[in-house]
Parts: sequence; C-alpha cells; structure tokens
Amino acid sequence: MEGFRITGGERIEGRVRLEGAKNAVLPILAASILPQGDVVIRDCPDIRDVHAMAGILSRLGCRCRWQAGEMTVCNQGLHNWEMPDALSKQIRSSIFLLGPILARMRRATVTYPGGCDIGLRPIDLHLKGLRALGVVIVDDGGILYCDGRNMHPGDVYFDYPSVGATENVMMAAALLPGVTTIHNAAREPEIADLQRFINGMGGCIRGAGTQVIEIQGVQRLEGITYAPISDRIGAGTLLCAGAITGGTVELTNACPWDLLPVTEKLREMGCTIRTEGELMLLEAKERLSAFSRLQTQPHPGFPTDMQAQMLACASVAHGTSVIVENVFENRFAQAADLTRMGANILVSGRMAVVQGVDALHGARVCARDLRGGAALVLAGLAAQGETVVENAALVDRGYAHLEDTLSSLGAKIQRIQL
Ligand code: UD1
Repeated sequence: MEGFRITGGERIEGRVRLEGAKNAVLPILAASILPQGDVVIRDCPDIRDVHAMAGILSRLGCRCRWQAGEMTVCNQGLHNWEMPDALSKQIRSSIFLLGPILARMRRATVTYPGGCDIGLRPIDLHLKGLRALGVVIVDDGGILYCDGRNMHPGDVYFDYPSVGATENVMMAAALLPGVTTIHNAAREPEIADLQRFINGMGGCIRGAGTQVIEIQGVQRLEGITYAPISDRIGAGTLLCAGAITGGTVELTNACPWDLLPVTEKLREMGCTIRTEGELMLLEAKERLSAFSRLQTQPHPGFPTDMQAQMLACASVAHGTSVIVENVFENRFAQAADLTRMGANILVSGRMAVVQGVDALHGARVCARDLRGGAALVLAGLAAQGETVVENAALVDRGYAHLEDTLSSLGAKIQRIQL
C-alpha cells in the first residue's frame, strides 16, 4: 500500500494551473463511444478513475491512449455491450456507460457499480430515466440486462436532481430521433460541459445548467478534439491548502463562477480571494475563523465534494462551525482520523459540530474515501509534526500526483511505501 508522509507547518505558496475536471472527463469519456470518429480530450487528468474508465472502454472494443495530458479514444472497434464486472466495480462512473452503450448498440449488460463508500448510492434514477426511453431492464441477482431495441424519446422526471442520471439520459437520447425532455435535471457545471461536448460533435441539446434539458436526437455524431472545464473540486482543495496553512495560492485556468459557494465560505473564514478572468488568488490570514453553518446541496449549493476539506479547515479555525451533509448519508468518515490528530468534532447523523483547536498534531491516519483522504492530507499540512496518510490510492482516484502539486507549493510531502 502507498501513503503520504507529511511534515506539517509549512505555508503553502505558489501558482498552479488546473487540469480538466474529473467529473467532466468521466462522462465525456463515456460519451466518446457515441460519435463515428475519434475523440481527443485535452487537459485530461492522470488520475486512477480516468484510467479505469479507459480500461472499461478498451474492454468494449475501443482503443484508448493517454499521452502527455491528452486522451485519444478510437471507438471504431466497439463491439461489446457487456461491461466487465471487476472494472465497473472499481468506479461508480461506469454506470454512465449504460446510456451511451444503449444509444450505440441497443443493448447493454452491467453489474451494480462500485466507487467510494460514502453512502448507499442507488441507481434507481438512472434506471427510471432509461425506462422512460423504452429500455427494458431485468435485474438478475445484481446483473442488469438492458434491452433497448424499442427505445424512443420521452419525458423524464427526476424527483431528485441526480448528476449521473441526468448525464446518462442525455447520452442515451443524443442519438434517438425526436425530443427527450429531462425535468428537474441536475445543474452542475459538468452537465453543461457534457452538453457542449455532445453539441460540438453535432448533437442538439439545450438547457443544461437549468432544471429542464431538451435533447433533440440526431442521426450521427462526428469525432472531436475537446478541452473540458477545469476541476472546481481540485481548485477548491488547493484553496483550502492555502487557507489551512495561512498561505497564498494562485490558480490559473480556473472557473471562479463555479467555485462561488466555496470561495464565499473561505471568505467567511477570513481569507481574501481575488479573481480576474480565469485567475484566482487566495491569501489567508494567520488563523482561520469558523463559519456559522455549511450545508451541502446540489449545485449551485455548496458541493458535497468539498465538504471534507472544509471540515479539515474548520478543525483549526477559531470558533465553532456546523456542517450539514445533505447529499450523501455517510460522508464524515474522516472525522475520526481528524480527531486522532487532535480535532474536536462531534458527528451526529448528517451533522458535524466542529470546535476549532489551536493546533493539530501529526498522526498515522487512513484515507477512507477520495475527498476524505484529501482532507487528511490538508490536516497533515497544518499539523505539528509528522502525519502519515495511508491508502494514497483512494486519493489518486481524483487527484493527479497530489504530492507533486503540493511540493511545488512548498509543502513537505512525499509518497511512501507502507
Ligand atoms: C456525482 C459526482 C460526485 C458528486 C455527486 C454529487 C461524478 C463522476 N461524480 O456523483 O463526485 O459527489 O455527483 O454532486 O460526476 N441517488 C439516488 N438514486 C440514483 C442516483 C443518485 O438515490 O439513481 C442519490 C445518491 O445516493 C446521492 C444523491 O442522489 O444521495 C446524489 O447523487 P448523484 O447526483 O447521482 O451523484 P453521482 O452522479 O453519483
């Protein structure tokens, strides 16, 4: 097993250029099987989830090549509609492939997906959306046999704006002649990016970013070279690294508008944040102040993927902070490890009450999910002494060589074998 060894106490200072967003690239990779031509994704992050997704695409018959930040997907050899069980259990986003496989091959076989252990994570909304498009789905002991021979456009209503289910239906309907409408669609920026990607290939989708998305199916899509939006969660994590160490962080290639919920909270904690076009600059004061209340919500509310990092920041802020996690039911896994480092956190159900302490101390802790692992790294940067964060592989799912990025900003962090 690999881990990170961190010697805390160094101020983070410097500039980072952000890469493409994990949560934009994963559905875009899934949608890469839709066109009759090659897809090249620029700024494609070197993260485990991306390589796992490319592995699944290869098993379906595509050729995927990642080189120097560019992923090329050649889908000419696409022939398989069965998703490999072991691989799809590695990443939850494998479920995104259901829509595109059905769009291209009119049948698909998948197993229930895996991913971070942050809650039940059912896929009922994905299945409901596809059934509304005429897909017949039989669940045989966890294997889903999907028959799309009678697929048709339709009206889809989600009683919760699921990101993945919205994307799945967009991709399934992109090649279905007629108009499909999604009501109460998720509004995350990555959904608008998927619309831009599909439309760039010749698709006809409008409304992404609002609650109603209209997909006019087209006969065929063409290949494309595309640069996805930058990673707002990666950006937020680096801003938190600056905030928790009393440092200064400059981000280029950022989307400041998409980060508003996070930057507003960091301002509440006493950070100064300036933005100019795609540039963001955070300057933290010596000690953070607590925030009154943080509630995670679907976009444009506060993103659940930034909650763990804010919990780490709140651990050393002056005063009491309250966090309510509304999106996933099990997303305070890192609280126990933060407590080992000296934090004062009370978790009750979906709420965490954090009484900020003057200082954390280093400890041996373990990443239990992707963002929780990043939160422990942040805590290690601020802690006195040495911290070891076990299970770097979970962090590698969503951050490309996090230790290199943080080292370039002055942190003392290295990857170690455990
Ligand atoms: C995506 C993001 C993930 C982020 C999440 C919420 C990607 C690759 N992942 O995940 O990083 O944390 O959005 O912003 O983009 N739900 C159901 N039934 C379903 C689907 C979802 O009940 O069929 C529930 C989930 O259990 C969860 C909530 O809806 O409680 C939100 O999930 P969803 O928006 O679907 O998140 P993902 O697409 O899995």
